[in-house]
Amino acid sequence: MTMLFNGRQLPLVPSGPHGSRSNMTCRYRCGNACFHPEPNQSGNESMRDLVERSIARRSVLKSGAVGAGAAVIGHALPSAAAAADGPSPRMAPIGGLNFKPVAPNNRDMVTVPKGFGHHVVISWGDRVLPEAPRFDVRNQSPESAAMQFGYNCDYVGVLPLSRTRALLVANHEYTNEELMFPSGEYDADTQRRIAMASHGMSVVEIKRGSRTSGAWRQVPVSRARYNRRVTASTPMRLTGPAAGHPRLRTSTDPSGEIVLGTLNNCAGGMTPWGTVLSGEENFNQYFEASGGTDARYAESYARYGVSGDNEDRNWKATDSRFDLTQEPHEPFRFGWVVELDPYRPEAKPRKHTMLGRMKHEGANVSVAEDGRVAVYMGDDERGDYIYKFVSRDRMARGDGARARRHNRTLLEHGTLYVARFTGDGPEDDIYDGTGRWRKLTSDTESFVDGMSVAEVLIDTRLAADKLGATRMDRPEDIEPNPVNRKIYCALTNNSQRGTTFPPDEANPVTTSMVRSELGEPLTSTTGNRNGYVLEITEEDDRPTARSFKWTLLLVCGDPDAPETYFAGYPKDKVSPISCPDNVAFDPEGNLWVSTDGNALGSNDGLFRVPVRGSERGHVEQFLTVPLAAETCGPLITRDGRSVFVAVQHPGEADGSTFESPASTWPHTHPFPRPSVVVAYKP
Ligand code: FEO
Ligand code: CA
Ligand code: CA
Repeated sequence: MTMLFNGRQLPLVPSGPHGSRSNMTCRYRCGNACFHPEPNQSGNESMRDLVERSIARRSVLKSGAVGAGAAVIGHALPSAAAAADGPSPRMAPIGGLNFKPVAPNNRDMVTVPKGFGHHVVISWGDRVLPEAPRFDVRNQSPESAAMQFGYNCDYVGVLPLSRTRALLVANHEYTNEELMFPSGEYDADTQRRIAMASHGMSVVEIKRGSRTSGAWRQVPVSRARYNRRVTASTPMRLTGPAAGHPRLRTSTDPSGEIVLGTLNNCAGGMTPWGTVLSGEENFNQYFEASGGTDARYAESYARYGVSGDNEDRNWKATDSRFDLTQEPHEPFRFGWVVELDPYRPEAKPRKHTMLGRMKHEGANVSVAEDGRVAVYMGDDERGDYIYKFVSRDRMARGDGARARRHNRTLLEHGTLYVARFTGDGPEDDIYDGTGRWRKLTSDTESFVDGMSVAEVLIDTRLAADKLGATRMDRPEDIEPNPVNRKIYCALTNNSQRGTTFPPDEANPVTTSMVRSELGEPLTSTTGNRNGYVLEITEEDDRPTARSFKWTLLLVCGDPDAPETYFAGYPKDKVSPISCPDNVAFDPEGNLWVSTDGNALGSNDGLFRVPVRGSERGHVEQFLTVPLAAETCGPLITRDGRSVFVAVQHPGEADGSTFESPASTWPHTHPFPRPSVVVAYKP
């Protein structure tokens, strides 16, 4: 397939190992994680009893509809347009509007339904700090990059300042040097320093077009008080029981409490106390070894994929802390959840060891009736686990200084759990069952034989292996629905389900229907290629519960494929959906799902899915992103008028280069620029 854009021939958008994800994305984003053996060699069973009974694939399913009561919880997650700013009586929120779903396509643009508008809010290189120079791709420097919007935006949070102003917080997951730099214009060391400054997070003040508008734009940097950049070098404080542990000490930080920077920040979440949680995901790929590695850590390194052989980035040549031979402990200082307070630009971000160390996709909070908070987290790797933290202390209500000070400590004390799923069998024609949250450790007592509290937190994967946690198909974003209080998790895909990983009722698909190009027929291939959306109902809807029920809300793919399931909704009325990655909710409690790596020949997109009543499972595509991009950070503002998405890695197709890119979106320059977009009803 040859794509033409503005008369120029674009390279192919070939199929990578996972649907449309290119080999280039695998290399730069995940450090080729899927080309290495799965780090989870625990052999944890996955309800083998059910496998032996050979789960029957369903062709006809019961509706499975759950009449979830729309009990609105007592607190509201902060979102754009402060809490008092509910839906306008004159304008229905987007979640409640009818729209004609966007068809699968390969356009080099953002496509929204007819009648909706959209525009770019901020792009890679745009000024964040007042001292930043204007973006000039041929005159980049580490200093300017640290003041401009970073590369490859992922998570998007929007926190209110007033009815018309808000703070947009974005993660910058990784860099792709082949698309960032004109070839031969920068030396390798300068490129690496720019790349380090282009990682991290941004805080950017934004404002509405008018008091009721859903169209948000960046506030001029000279008038933005809270704007901030966090990079791979920004000092951060470790908190919780593992802070200061000998394994977190390095030659430059003998305290083991102060880390420089954050890496590979993927998804995240806003807390009810007004901060942002950001997940450090594929941190392992930044570490290399100039010589031998410390044999004491061989098992831990292997479980996290810290192999020391990623020559692509070669960051050790610029900063010796990325050399395992010199600093064997530095990788233990990454893989945490970072908490950033966007309202306090001077405050050090904190890495919370109590939330465990893994390839954190994100972290999202639910508040129990007694005020304790639960944080749900996915560890995005084939065959890894779903986790929950429950705080010891109760959240203080209100926005006073005392409450904020107290809430800053909530994630330092509590208990960390890992999920084990049990199926109830195929007879009911639904993939469902029950589950338990198994205790890993509290801040004072470990529940894993032979491991201390700090060891469980630093080697959380190894600890969870010992508890027989269920190996899932790449658990990515997991978030509580603030309306029905159920928990929704995107399980992106697992090409090895059915081979390395035996199927189970929570991970049932071992053969998938895919297509390499639109218009081509579906073909069958091994593994779970299109992913699931999992729905968890905590016992009595309590976030602090130890047991739960679960069901697969969606078995994704083309509705014509026999394995797909859309909560029983008629399959001829849904949009095809593939590789769910991030989830979000609108004020009505509808689920929104963004995708990464569509295995059906289309660009990735964003989908709305009602989860209750007769519309439960009615998947409709709201938006598609440009060529070879991923749809990230979806956020629907609390007034329901705006849908934010991060367009990550446009043009990241094999063979794509700065000079000959597969995408030129957003078409401000002859090369692609990852950007945050807002869509709205004008
Ligand atoms: Fe950064 Fe798991 O996606
Ligand atoms: Ca069942
Ligand atoms: Ca993701």
